[in-house]
Amino acid sequence: MIKKAVIPAAGLGTRFLPVTKAQPKEMLPIIDTPVIQYVVQECVDSGIEDILIISGKGKRSIEDHFDKNFELESRLQEKEDEVLYTQLRHIESMANIHFIRQKELNGLGDAIYHARFHCGHEPFAVLLGDTIIDSVIPVTQQLIDAYEQYSQTVIAVETVPPENVSRYGIVGGDKLSDRVIRLNQLIEKPGRKQAPSNMAIAGRYVLTPAIFRALEKTPRGKGNEIQLTDALQILLKEEGIIASLIEGKRYDIGNKMDFLKTTVEFALKRKEFAEGFGEFLRETVDNLYNQKG
Ligand code: UTP
Repeated sequence: MIKKAVIPAAGLGTRFLPVTKAQPKEMLPIIDTPVIQYVVQECVDSGIEDILIISGKGKRSIEDHFDKNFELESRLQEKEDEVLYTQLRHIESMANIHFIRQKELNGLGDAIYHARFHCGHEPFAVLLGDTIIDSVIPVTQQLIDAYEQYSQTVIAVETVPPENVSRYGIVGGDKLSDRVIRLNQLIEKPGRKQAPSNMAIAGRYVLTPAIFRALEKTPRGKGNEIQLTDALQILLKEEGIIASLIEGKRYDIGNKMDFLKTTVEFALKRKEFAEGFGEFLRETVDNLYNQKG
């Protein structure tokens, strides 16, 4: 059983400057909810309530978001705003959230290494704090199901267009079932010809505690950082790894284009915005084509 999750959220967010100069990208709102709240909700929906967030410089607002705000709550009670009051109470009590600071930004692998005492000898889930995956069955739950069947580290993968493989970590291996692959290759950002498939690592993992030993042996890699993918290469040789082809749609909020698309798609799914915002989009697109035509 997987009882713990780690959410790395200490990164600088340089791709989203200038807004990330003094604000964590994990707190960017998708309409009215910060990205990291969706990520925490995915843990909770997958049966995990013990969550360690890897925090860092300039990330205090993440802690404040999941903390109690007495003043705001009493103001909402005075105004008898039951809906908002209930929402706020939900955020502070949705999970048992711990924080640890990554003082130097030495990469995703190093961020996860900070979880070694918290996770101890148990397998645990990892969810990137800047990535939302919209799905019917939470993706972390999909990975837990695969872990329970195969008792091995599980990496979430998604198919990407073959011309884009050089942007991702790409996996190769043998099919065990429709959606599960036993890995024999893991290549970070391969050229189109070197890529063993078009299945890309998708920001969710279930890792065995052996990852911590692997991270200790991992030298600094790309960007002079400790890369999680390099540690996974070691784990692949020592223990084996499987990949689970996820059912869901991934949004990398760390890049501006994905952020825009997420906002539009999520707004169209919300009852109170679907009609009015849909109408606005239609008019905007019509005007665009009229101008062009
Ligand atoms: P990214 O590589 O997307 O984050 O890491 P980044 O470094 O902030 O991004 P850019 O390239 O500068 O825009 C994925 C997740 O891992 C965390 C990030 O906060 C993000 O949620 N991370 C990354 C850490 O916690 N520590 C690190 O040293 C690096």
